[in-house]
Amino acid sequence: MELNGKAVIITGASSGIGAATARHLAARGAKLALFARREAEMQSLAEAIRQDGGEALVVPGDVTRSADVQRLMRETLAAFGRLDALVNNAGMGGGLNLCDTRDDLLWRVLEVNVLGCALCAKYAMPHLPPGGVIVNIGSVAGEVATVGMYAASKFAARGFNDALRREVKGRGIRVVLVAPGFIRTEMTAGLRYRMPGPEIVARAIEQAIRSPRRKIVVPWWYRPLMYLGKIPLIADAILGNPKTQARYRDRDSVKKLSA
Ligand SMILES: NC(=O)c1ccc[n+]([C@@H]2O[C@H](COP(=O)([O-])OP(=O)(O)OC[C@H]3O[C@@H](n4cnc5c(N)ncnc54)[C@H](OP(=O)(O)O)[C@@H]3O)[C@@H](O)[C@H]2O)c1
Repeated sequence: MELNGKAVIITGASSGIGAATARHLAARGAKLALFARREAEMQSLAEAIRQDGGEALVVPGDVTRSADVQRLMRETLAAFGRLDALVNNAGMGGGLNLCDTRDDLLWRVLEVNVLGCALCAKYAMPHLPPGGVIVNIGSVAGEVATVGMYAASKFAARGFNDALRREVKGRGIRVVLVAPGFIRTEMTAGLRYRMPGPEIVARAIEQAIRSPRRKIVVPWWYRPLMYLGKIPLIADAILGNPKTQARYRDRDSVKKLSA
């Protein structure tokens, strides 16, 4: 799909990958509807896009609230008269290990990372034309499990993506999974590894909309690692986090945490 003049919704547009994608697609002529909870961040992003000659609409809201998602669709159609692509990017981390994670966060990560994609796809669907595209942002953690509920949510997002692709192909709508490895954003602010910035994912999302395919893993070098990680012995040896394991060795502290 050519991007110039097309209307694209980006969820989770107030920071990180979503904000970088908004800047990237706007520079290529797309009209953008920016959706997330933090309105001020999206307003300054939209202002910067407009100053560069682009078009951007800000719709504050929560992906887990059906009424907010329906309002997003109404306001996008009222502003642009069309909807060509949806980027389901809003997401959150889910705690580093089960015992230290509050119960409400266990629910919330599933709601945001899975239900959020489903609600946005459901209400975008009637407005997408044949050739329209839905991009779901999964994760390498949705291919090879890393940390508990986050990985579970991204496995579920991948399952949702694949089932949706099969469900809507008769309408000519393309569904693409973009699975990033570690990317430098607010979500990974506490990690000290070297990692690329969010622009690399923005370029993959552009590619996903221009010439849809089943899945794009980004950066590319996670692809061989991902296949290695599907061999259980290798995955268990590499991905067992020593800090977490040390925590579980101390039985009393785990009892206290789960109480
Ligand atoms: N960074 C990585 O290493 C990495 C790797 C693989 C996959 N991903 C995925 O990439 C996506 C973007 O994450 P990021 O790295 O760019 O992190 P980020 O900077 O923390 O961005 C997360 C975005 O999601 C929005 N969001 C969270 N909860 C929301 C809700 N209930 N309703 C609406 N918007 C919500 C946030 O906006 P508000 O707080 O303003 O609502 C924010 O704009 C996520 O799906 C994440 O799982 C990231």
